Amino acid sequence: MLKMSKIMVVFLGLILWVCSSVMASVTYDHKALVIDGKRRILISGSIHYPRSTPQMWPDLIQKAKDGGLDVIETYVFWNGHEPSPGQYYFEDRYDLVRFVKLVQQAGLYVHLRIGPYVCAEWNFGGFPVWLKYVPGIAFRTDNGPFKAAMQKFTAKIVSMMKGEKLYHSQGGPIILSQIENEYGPVEWEIGAPGKSYTKWAAQMALGLDTGVPWVMCKQEDAPDPVIDTCNGFYCENFEPNKAYKPKMWTEAWTGWFTEFGGPVPYRPVEDLAYAVARFIQNRGSLINYYMYHGGTNFGRTAGGPFIATSYDYDAPIDEYGLIRQPKWGHLRDLHKAIKLCEPALVSVDPTVSSLGSKQEAHVFDTRSGQCAAFLANYDPSTSVRVIFGNHPYDLPPWSVSILPDCKTVVFNTAKVNAPSYWPKMTPISSFSWHSYNEETASAYADDTTTMAGLVEQISVTRDGTDYLWYMTDIRIDSNEGFLKSGQWPLLTIFSAGHALHVFINGQLSGTVYGGLDNPKLTFSKYVNLRPGVNKLSMLSVAVGLPNVGLHFDTWNAGVLGPVTLKGLNEGTRDMSKYKWSYKVGLRGEALNLYSDKGSNSVEWTKGSLVQKQPLTWYKTTFNTPAGKEPLALDMSSMSKGQMWVNGQSIGRYFPGYIASGKCNKCSYTGTFTDDKCLWNCGGPSQKWYHVPRDWLSPKGNLLVIFEEIGGNPEGISLVKRTTF
Ligand code: GAL
Repeated sequence: MLKMSKIMVVFLGLILWVCSSVMASVTYDHKALVIDGKRRILISGSIHYPRSTPQMWPDLIQKAKDGGLDVIETYVFWNGHEPSPGQYYFEDRYDLVRFVKLVQQAGLYVHLRIGPYVCAEWNFGGFPVWLKYVPGIAFRTDNGPFKAAMQKFTAKIVSMMKGEKLYHSQGGPIILSQIENEYGPVEWEIGAPGKSYTKWAAQMALGLDTGVPWVMCKQEDAPDPVIDTCNGFYCENFEPNKAYKPKMWTEAWTGWFTEFGGPVPYRPVEDLAYAVARFIQNRGSLINYYMYHGGTNFGRTAGGPFIATSYDYDAPIDEYGLIRQPKWGHLRDLHKAIKLCEPALVSVDPTVSSLGSKQEAHVFDTRSGQCAAFLANYDPSTSVRVIFGNHPYDLPPWSVSILPDCKTVVFNTAKVNAPSYWPKMTPISSFSWHSYNEETASAYADDTTTMAGLVEQISVTRDGTDYLWYMTDIRIDSNEGFLKSGQWPLLTIFSAGHALHVFINGQLSGTVYGGLDNPKLTFSKYVNLRPGVNKLSMLSVAVGLPNVGLHFDTWNAGVLGPVTLKGLNEGTRDMSKYKWSYKVGLRGEALNLYSDKGSNSVEWTKGSLVQKQPLTWYKTTFNTPAGKEPLALDMSSMSKGQMWVNGQSIGRYFPGYIASGKCNKCSYTGTFTDDKCLWNCGGPSQKWYHVPRDWLSPKGNLLVIFEEIGGNPEGISLVKRTTF
């Protein structure tokens, strides 16, 4: 009897073990990811945790769930987590574990794209800047120091997730992980070392034994069993590199990012829904919206250069955390329709038949009761009536109808039933300011370092600040002909970027800046010099480090010369090899003027301000307006700088950079591209800057602004965002 029950216990235990390993498992086959033994069609959306506040996370996740998402995807932001070698940070907006657990609590899955190269319009593509200065390093190739650092960070994240039991294999929400990011095109450029790096990256990731599949996006040669996936505006024709891998779309771009100097892109939801429906009808099984909530590039996290502080992305949840309609609602309806088809979609491959010259039916018929059909009209200009199963169906141009029972249309991608909401920014209050003048730094002063020649900016600042002063003395002999003729000499400065303010004897002589496509700049101006010593002070400003492009990590910033003065008795004087004095950062930064303590450490001038004054700090205090509506600052009266509230950096502002581009009326039909649908041409690329309510106290909030070029702070207002 006793013997029997022992055997029974062992047997039951075995059954339980087998069941639980099926219960908590993620595998895949040619059709789909198989979660807990079941194939799934999964709808996923990107929400990058540092682009909102932890207090916003539960609401964003809930809105994503209500929008029909099964999965939340995020990158992991290495430079946020390891600001200096071996010193880790996982607090506040970087509390990755908290974020993943909140997704879990909402009952959703997580796709953790560790990278750790992430691109993402994020500073330096997510790499910590110190990494660049590791001896012998070369990024994203078959290089020992790089691979060691990448492995160390990836392993750290994986073990952290394992320690918290967050992989699905442990009962947690993470069902998928990504290593690298869009490495295929780089590999194609660099050849052999790229190929071996790809193999190494895959093996390294697999060796970490997460118990869930790995993906590599835009990586046609992703080594088995890693799944290669597609990124793009459309992915219906993508096929994974092996027939037994599922077809997945890791980045379905919901819009596009804004750059300072560019208009604001948007993507009509009819086209996005059409792209998704086409992907699903062509056997796609996972689609991830990039972005579902784009959020904000707070602090100095924006990549670029010149990526705007807003990372709204025209996503279904707007920068401020409000649902964007009709986008959010139309996609929710699409997801419902897809979910109704799921049993058929996961069971069989579609039969494709022609319904006309540009019309097709994709039918998933299990022949055992499950049947789902997608009727597509690829024609960008004409509505068509097609006959399917002896019934007529009207298909608007560039649309797909979804019939979860092969008879009834429950959704057409071009017929939007969700309501339209318009965003509204209502001014609530303006401020009364105090100002503090940031002195122009001067060559050979005590707080400067002198070196021969011009040096690359980031090698000096290590990106601890946007600012580096380059200073020298220009000696002008009293015999100089220009002093009599009044024909001032021409000062020419070549800089690798990104922005430059030139001061002569403490006066702003001019400002020049580049753009995302070409950060290089040239300053060229006739300058008024006096006999004797003239102080040339150039404030070189970084506006976000590049995040993409071949060898982007090697691109320079700062004044590399030549710096010349033309029109002297001697002809042209080349000052590039002169002794140059350097000063890292602003005095106000060193004094922490944006903190309570720091702001009290200096004398501010009250009230009346000299308008349009360069290099000026402004401070004010304000009480938080009642209500729950998200808040923003309207900065359109200012030019360029940074701002902080209660010591938290809201980010860079740059309303002085006017959006140039073509803002034509755009139709949802026809192939979408990143510059097809744009608005805001001729206005500041970004006028409003999100101030999270979570950073505010009810009373006495300290708002500090540093203006580089000159603006009118009296024009700044606090606004609330609503929709109507
Ligand atoms: C992709 C990249 C993303 C993001 C996107 C553009 O190529 O993987 O990280 O940069 O482009 O927003």
